[in-house]
Amino acid sequence: MVRSAYIHIPFCKSICSYCDFCKFLYDYQNIDSYLLALKEEIASVNIKNELSTLYLGGGSPSCLSLREIKSLFAILDTLPLSCDYEFTIEVNPVDMTREKLEFWYQHRVNRLSIGIETFQKELLKTLGRSHTFDEMKEKVTLAREVGFKNISVDLMYAIPKETLEQLEDDLEKVNALDVDHVSCYSLMIEPKTKLYLEKITPIDEEVDLTMYQKIHSFLEYHGFHQYEISNYAKEKKESKHNLVYWNNQEYYGFGLGASFYLENVRGENTKKLKDYLTHQGRMEEIISEEDKMRYEMILGLRKIKGVKKKEFYQKYRKKIIDVFKIEDLLEKNVLVDDENYISIHPNYLYVSNEILTRFVD
Ligand SMILES: C[S@@+](CC[C@H](N)C(=O)[O-])C[C@H]1O[C@@H](n2cnc3c(N)ncnc32)[C@H](O)[C@@H]1O
Ligand code: SF4
Repeated sequence: MVRSAYIHIPFCKSICSYCDFCKFLYDYQNIDSYLLALKEEIASVNIKNELSTLYLGGGSPSCLSLREIKSLFAILDTLPLSCDYEFTIEVNPVDMTREKLEFWYQHRVNRLSIGIETFQKELLKTLGRSHTFDEMKEKVTLAREVGFKNISVDLMYAIPKETLEQLEDDLEKVNALDVDHVSCYSLMIEPKTKLYLEKITPIDEEVDLTMYQKIHSFLEYHGFHQYEISNYAKEKKESKHNLVYWNNQEYYGFGLGASFYLENVRGENTKKLKDYLTHQGRMEEIISEEDKMRYEMILGLRKIKGVKKKEFYQKYRKKIIDVFKIEDLLEKNVLVDDENYISIHPNYLYVSNEILTRFVD
């Protein structure tokens, strides 16, 4: 039974220099027709079962005006949610007004994911963003006052010219915000982004690794635990929605460019706005049993715990070691096979992408 849904809102008030997500500059003339297409797409599925996770991502779903947010939630209010649901909205800090926060909270949103990235003025300039620590402290306090008990922030590191001292300062400030969850991403300079076109030099790989280790030791010391390569949570504050992906479970995907996994099909909506408005350009791929097992490993090994052997066997009636040639990785202790799980050894998490390629067809 599908118990999760992702909904994409591809608009932002300004475009950041590093971002290659599916997004457009906010233009109020596009929003109403987008919301209409989204409404039709969701209605076409007829979701009857209660969802345990709902994720409103983007772009910046927070950038819509209050009138547009109301129109979006007229659709979302109709979705059935389970009693222990998690409903996340991705928020750009500049959009965190009391009015919007109160509206989301009253309309069942119970988790905020805020794109903070850094507090360093010069680095924010490189990223094409701006806010100060005092503003963020005020906004997180406001969200708490409104009632939000589950707040996550995105922290970016390895930004060109970033120093270890700046990262330490960011970590101290994130900690001072007293949030529940931190996602930490090393800046990727993606083709076609402003940083790429300006030929900005990426940070040295060794510095990147030192920063990854610094983040790990700092957050673990301050009461967060790493449960996925890039994600740290306080007790019981892991992202339930993202765990659905990493546990290779099914989910609906609605909106421009949204991906989905339903029964034996993985797919993605078109990234062309014009096509989405007329419900065209959806891509679908039938997933074989072998593919499912590969996904189980590629996604599951992102979790620090790894892949549960018993669950793998229950799903596929096969043992992991009989399906994949991983003896050498186990011998070298790159992968660890304990009584219940197969996982990546902590020393190799930083190079996990190389290890995961072993499970690609
Ligand atoms: C959809 S955005 C978050 C919400 C909102 N749009 C915002 O930017 O505040 C998702 C997150 O992905 C991360 N991200 C996006 N592009 C990235 C890149 N090129 N390298 C590393 N992280 C990136 C950022 O941390 C960003 O906050
Ligand atoms: S990082 Fe967030 S705000 Fe910036 S362009 Fe990407 S989706 Fe929009």
